[in-house]
Amino acid sequence: MKNAATHKSGHEDVAPRLPAGSHLPVHIAIIMDGNGRWAERRFMPRSFGHKQGAEAVRRTVEAAVEIGVPYLTLFAFSSENWKRPADEVNDLMWLLRSYLRKEMAALHAQGVRIQFIGARRSLAPDLVALIDEAEALTAQNQRLVFTIAVSYGGQDDIVDAARALARRVAEGELNPDEIDPDLFAAELSTAAMPDPDLVIRTSGEQRLSNFMLWQSAYAELVFIDTLWPDFTRQDLEQAIAVFAGRDRRFGGTDAV
Ligand code: IPE
Ligand code: IPE
Ligand code: MG
Repeated sequence: MKNAATHKSGHEDVAPRLPAGSHLPVHIAIIMDGNGRWAERRFMPRSFGHKQGAEAVRRTVEAAVEIGVPYLTLFAFSSENWKRPADEVNDLMWLLRSYLRKEMAALHAQGVRIQFIGARRSLAPDLVALIDEAEALTAQNQRLVFTIAVSYGGQDDIVDAARALARRVAEGELNPDEIDPDLFAAELSTAAMPDPDLVIRTSGEQRLSNFMLWQSAYAELVFIDTLWPDFTRQDLEQAIAVFAGRDRRFGGTDAV
């Protein structure tokens, strides 16, 4: 895996270098927060913050590809975000459409595999069609697995898995005693990817807000004050450097 410390970013003067030989996380997940506050500070509508947030998404995916992170997951819209005013929900859904239409081909050309997790049944059919198209187009790519969590809730993810297992038990295909964490995880929407080892949340809030509850069991959590529209490659590298300095024990006594 390529280490960012040896990578030419084009703005070496500003970007902090990651410590040489530091471990890159395999899966970085980001709770992108603070778009509304970013706009409000500028006396602009929240939609303007979301638009700038989409630019930060573009930058972040590019940075992840360059740094060589294999998995990146971005929390774009939670199962609770449906509580927001209809106008704001519509703005966010239109931004997602426009992001996919504009970026799909470029991401494909860079070897990015795009996939979605979350309740697809609650999305508009044309958006689901676009999501299906992006997933199908990029399905064979291996440079970066880029997952967008939309209408995603960690509790829903767990409940859906429990329901699937209950169904298998009811059909006589599975004995309840066989259910263990591995079997359970195989029913989650994230079954095909490793658990996130680094979860970053922007905007100073220090909570998970129903994001990857099961999968974050041993993730390192990094909370930064930057509002999402201001998030840069430098912030990403800084979070990776913080991660590299953490002592991960997984319940044992030795750091790994
Ligand atoms: C993150 O920014 C985007 C979504 C949650 C969809 P917010 O819209 O939550 O921004 P704040 O937290 O109100 O500043
Ligand atoms: C979490 O942000 C959801 C996303 C980033 C998509 P919120 O802004 O919805 O979280 P709360 O309401 O502050 O917990
Ligand atoms: Mg928020």
